[in-house]
Amino acid sequence: MKTVVLANQKGGVGKTTLAAHLAVAAERAGDGPCVLIDTDPQASLAAWWNGRALETPAFASTALKELSEKRDALGQAGYAYAFIDTPPAITESIRTVIAQADFVLIPTRPSPHDLRAAGSTVELALVAGRSFAFAVTQAKPNSRLTVQAMAVLSEHGIVAPSVVYDRVDYAASMIDGRTVLETDPKGRSAGEMIELWRFVKNRINDSKKTRKKAGTKDA
Ligand SMILES: Nc1ncnc2c1ncn2[C@@H]1O[C@H](COP(=O)(O)OP(=O)(O)OP(=O)(O)O)[C@@H](O)[C@H]1O
Ligand SMILES: [Mg+2]
Repeated sequence: MKTVVLANQKGGVGKTTLAAHLAVAAERAGDGPCVLIDTDPQASLAAWWNGRALETPAFASTALKELSEKRDALGQAGYAYAFIDTPPAITESIRTVIAQADFVLIPTRPSPHDLRAAGSTVELALVAGRSFAFAVTQAKPNSRLTVQAMAVLSEHGIVAPSVVYDRVDYAASMIDGRTVLETDPKGRSAGEMIELWRFVKNRINDSKKTRKKAGTKDA
């Protein structure tokens, strides 16, 4: 099982929204089964899942100190991907979660404050030696800020080419436990989520290949 962690110490950037949407996008792409894990005391992801009529993606509760064992058990149970939501803070708990990631996605709004705040999350991923990328979120259409943000972020790491735009359907779809992939599967927001999942999946597979290659060389 591969573990994707959504992290950014900045609040409201779309960690929870993307955790739910990516899990649904992955399942709809045939890459599941997926499981969601909420490590944020605000428990927004858990609340979303509880309001959901569908059984999939699955949800797993775990105490942080048992996260590693829980991941092993979920992998053995056949889950292909786990998506872990985290709180907006830099805490020991985030370090613990990031240390167990195969991939860290850092949602970042295209504003100067948000760009500055992303640095500490990058630092955590780098220290833990985890592969990471940025996803620009809540972007306004035709905004130069988005292009500038992508340029700034790309100096610090890979940026997902699919920008997530600011649209009410993201928030609206989540009111009753759904996602834009379910409320408007052919809409632009759904298209963004399909693309973003493709990007994340490719990044995970690429880093796996790189690790394998490095292993072959060492052997
Ligand atoms: N692309 C988007 N367009 C419009 N609204 C969005 C988008 N993404 C998220 N939102 C809304 O912005 C708010 C913050 O999103 P979300 O809760 O996913 O962020 P978060 O990073 O998990 O926040 P926190 O740090 O508080 O956990 C929510 O009200 C959500 O519905
Ligand atoms: Mg959240």
